[in-house]
Amino acid sequence: MKICIIGTGYVGLVSGTCFAELGNNVICVDKDKEKINKLNQGIVPIYEPGLEEIIKRNSRTKSLKFSTDISLSIKVSNIIFICVGTPTNKITKKADLKYIFNVTNIIKNNLNKYKLIITKSTVPVMTGDKIERILNIRKNKNKFDVISNPEFLREGEAIRDFLYPDRVVIGTSSSKANNIMRNLYLPIIKKKNRYFHTSRRAAELIKYASNAFLATKISYINEISNLCEKSNIDIKEVSTGIGLDERIGDRFLRAGPGYGGSCFPKDTKALVSTAKKFNTELSIVNSVIRFNDNRHKFLISKITKIMNNKLKNKRITFLGVTFKAGTDDMRESPSLKIIPSLIRKGSLIKYCDPSGIKKEFNKFKNINYCSNIKEACKNSDLLIIHTEWNEFKQLNFKNLVKKKKFKIYDMRNLYSPTKMKKSKISYFCIGR
Ligand code: UGA
Repeated sequence: MKICIIGTGYVGLVSGTCFAELGNNVICVDKDKEKINKLNQGIVPIYEPGLEEIIKRNSRTKSLKFSTDISLSIKVSNIIFICVGTPTNKITKKADLKYIFNVTNIIKNNLNKYKLIITKSTVPVMTGDKIERILNIRKNKNKFDVISNPEFLREGEAIRDFLYPDRVVIGTSSSKANNIMRNLYLPIIKKKNRYFHTSRRAAELIKYASNAFLATKISYINEISNLCEKSNIDIKEVSTGIGLDERIGDRFLRAGPGYGGSCFPKDTKALVSTAKKFNTELSIVNSVIRFNDNRHKFLISKITKIMNNKLKNKRITFLGVTFKAGTDDMRESPSLKIIPSLIRKGSLIKYCDPSGIKKEFNKFKNINYCSNIKEACKNSDLLIIHTEWNEFKQLNFKNLVKKKKFKIYDMRNLYSPTKMKKSKISYFCIGR
């Protein structure tokens, strides 16, 4: 099939590349000339394991192309995926849809034959209705169907999530459009029940409700971990015990520094504002957001306690600063709140992250990036394991720190408290 992907951000680039890998002809377009030039030279602007290789392979066979010519790319394609950003508006807290509607207007003027117009970007419920209204001018009659096909890709696991999905959700009332979509996804929907055909509005809501549910699991387990900490119970045992109930499941029950990234924080807030529009209060999602927004306060006060209220001139090392492992993404990472607060309190910060130095910390004094773990840990008073990178899972801390007294705060519960106790290391973790 001839596919045009509009927007070569995370979602667009991964989806476009994977569709090409599945044997389609794909053009990825973006208005950012520099990005497109780089992609044409095989330089990938995002960090996603495995992506570069697949891009190069499909670029060589010309099944994957990159272009800035949006009108032409739309005209030569039958299937158009809208994959542009929907950032949160700082004032209204709603998803800002200006990029979506800009693109829709361009599509409106280039409908030379029947096309499927598909939103893959996360868009509020009824955005599909608005797109349809914009496209529905007389000359475009019967020339399009608007479909919602939300993505469920995790950063760092995006290729696997795309090629081996738990489900593919297609929202449309058109059986013609549904048949084309089913054919498009045929190679990856091995079992029939992985393909879920529903109404367009339901598909839009499924995306938000899924992310909000996962965020709820995380805030819930973090709240229970606070109780565990006070009552001398191990949260890992509790999550395992809960997760064995198949109705609950064991995934997304890892206690930690709170959820971050470009999706959960944005989508939970956007869901609440959609509900407000329909005069519905989502009290559960609201508490989840509030709990997560305040998580850093709990962590900072714990760090203060660990350091006996003495943070001034203390050497604190962060192992990992990204919001999770396997990505270079800093958006909404808990470290962005914790580190500045410690700097204000006079601590001297070093950090090491396998994804490299972070521009977000440029504006601060007393913070230094170290390219290796050894340099980062040497002479530290406190090591904070902030992100669960594999590189941090088997460290010999005594050899690394090279001083008698130091402490560890493991925000991802990577190590065994019993083993730490045996090694006489002052070790703190989450909910244990
Ligand atoms: C998330 C969803 O998992 C994807 O299905 C979805 O498509 C994507 O958002 C999106 O809307 O585009 P992502 O943001 O890449 O993917 O990251 P996750 O792996 O879901 O992790 C999100 C946050 O939750 C991270 O901060 C992570 O550290 C935290 N988390 C996750 C926990 O604290 N505990 C867990 O058990 C799991």
